[in-house]
Amino acid sequence: MALIEGWLPPTRANYGLILTFWRFGYPALGSLQWLVKWYGMGKTSTPSALNLPGRAAWMTMEVPGFVTLLYMMRTLPAQQGIDDLPWQNRVLAGLFVIHYAYRAVLFPLLQPSMAPIHVFVWASAIGFQVLNGTCLGAWLAAYGPTTAAAWSAQTPLPQFALGLLVFYAGLAANYFHDEELREIRRRKARRDQAKGGKQRGGGHYEIPQAGLFRYVLFPHYLCEWIEWAGFLMAAGWTCAPAWAFLVNEVCSMLPRAVRGKAWYVERFGADKVGGKWAVIPGVW
Ligand SMILES: NC(=O)c1ccc[n+]([C@@H]2O[C@H](COP(=O)([O-])OP(=O)(O)OC[C@H]3O[C@@H](n4cnc5c(N)ncnc54)[C@H](OP(=O)(O)O)[C@@H]3O)[C@@H](O)[C@H]2O)c1
Repeated sequence: MALIEGWLPPTRANYGLILTFWRFGYPALGSLQWLVKWYGMGKTSTPSALNLPGRAAWMTMEVPGFVTLLYMMRTLPAQQGIDDLPWQNRVLAGLFVIHYAYRAVLFPLLQPSMAPIHVFVWASAIGFQVLNGTCLGAWLAAYGPTTAAAWSAQTPLPQFALGLLVFYAGLAANYFHDEELREIRRRKARRDQAKGGKQRGGGHYEIPQAGLFRYVLFPHYLCEWIEWAGFLMAAGWTCAPAWAFLVNEVCSMLPRAVRGKAWYVERFGADKVGGKWAVIPGVW
């Protein structure tokens, strides 16, 4: 059953239109962050009547991505007369779901605390998720390679396997650095408890030091980009939705990391931040 006739799931022509906007329009929107100083989330969250509680906002803005992708996988093949999808389509859809089971569901539950998220940031993230889930989902479900022969031409097996390896390495490293940020707040709560005070930790920031935090302030972003570069490698270099996803991630997260570095310098002083880069060692 179509949720929006011709669009959700999209016809091939409408898939082309949506993908064009996702490839070129959305990166331009994300890049506006270089011009607009305000970003109502995390460290740069400011008091507002339009703020949503961090945990609930995060979960509801991230879940639509993999739900949309699963909906495409469920509806489009039958609609396009495809009986069975090759294993590669299922594996790639599985990687997407594994990532978002963590990012959308577990992550907000694991965080010791999360700053409020402005409704505008929440709505833009939903737009990001639905566009991404639609484009990747439609490609995997019907408009990309859907036969064993098409996959032989799309991605040689060793490249697919290497892509999976890179994906899992990026996922593990992303988790490791997320975990280091969580540990800062847990340590603070333990210190408060040891002093006999109320357990806090919420809103407490330190300069993280473990792993790649020694060199960059946002290694969790870098590792997530590596993860999706692995996905792109497995999907094949001509997979336009996987390229669009990676480009959109970098366009929306890079200005945030650069702004984040300025925040660390302002809060802790340039001497404490030292020679740490924002996100890519030696570049930014
Ligand atoms: N932001 C995006 O556009 C985006 C897009 C795609 C994927 N992701 C991924 O989602 C994850 C979270 O992204 P994010 O932008 O929320 O990252 P972030 O700003 O680094 O914050 C991550 C979490 O750690 C806490 N935190 C951050 N810096 C801390 C510090 N110095 N000391 C103690 N706690 C600290 C934050 O608490 P507060 O909320 O209280 O600040 C938040 O709960 C990352 O792994 C990222 O790769 C983000």
